[in-house]
Amino acid sequence: VIRLARSWHKLALAIGGTLGIAVVLVLAVVYSGVYNVAASRGHPAWLDWFLALGMRRSVSSQSSGVLSPPLDSPDLVRLGGAHFHFGCANCHGAPGQAENPIYDHMLPSPPRLELEADSWTSAQLFWIVRHGIQYAGMPFWSGDGRDDEIWAVVAFLRVLPELDAASYLSLVSGREAHAARRETGAGHRVRALPRYGEPAADERFRPPLGWPVPALPSRSSAAISRWQS
Ligand code: HEC
Repeated sequence: VIRLARSWHKLALAIGGTLGIAVVLVLAVVYSGVYNVAASRGHPAWLDWFLALGMRRSVSSQSSGVLSPPLDSPDLVRLGGAHFHFGCANCHGAPGQAENPIYDHMLPSPPRLELEADSWTSAQLFWIVRHGIQYAGMPFWSGDGRDDEIWAVVAFLRVLPELDAASYLSLVSGREAHAARRETGAGHRVRALPRYGEPAADERFRPPLGWPVPALPSRSSAAISRWQS
């Protein structure tokens, strides 16, 4: 018994020693700065594969409790389109619209969502937009407690792969998006769409709109009915 205990003790010492040396080596490499963090280098293919696999697996597991409400209301799609146009298209591009070259040089580069949205369920899209993605620069949603806004974006993402440049433009054209207003309980009118990037931050944190979605002006009905038919 004593001999067995001794050999376990030796094994534990050997493992502990090896781990200790590994930690010191990693710290030495990090501290020396020999690792090149330049985004312009890109990632080796194996790292791309590894990160993409980890991201897919994480999103699918983390979003497993999310239940999608009905998303086929044209008003919801329109509202989501307006959010997308102002909050997402800069990075991800949009039908007929290239991504901003600055954001295109992020690592990883934001993918074209016309091509990728169909590879996710609505619950997974909700989770990604709600929480963002670490180590990738995909931001999480800025309106605290505004899941209703995120579901509008998801409703739009469901339609996006079907849109051409003209139907996209008519769906998101500015006046229509900005005209989205509703009565608040307090009796004054607010816009359904936050003004991203403006200093009046408290504007972004209004109470949820709730269901059903407010009716928006319908200049883009043609684009939506084309998608629905
Ligand atoms: C600052 C740039 C930026 C903005 C703004 C941005 N994203 Fe992203 N997004 C990214 C990047 C980068 C990735 C890639 C993440 C990865 O590959 O791990 C990404 C990934 C995604 C994905 C997963 C796509 C896939 O198949 O890999 C979805 C869905 C998405 N974004 C939706 C949105 C939506 C909707 C908005 C607007 C609310 C938005 N993003 C705003 C940078 C951005």
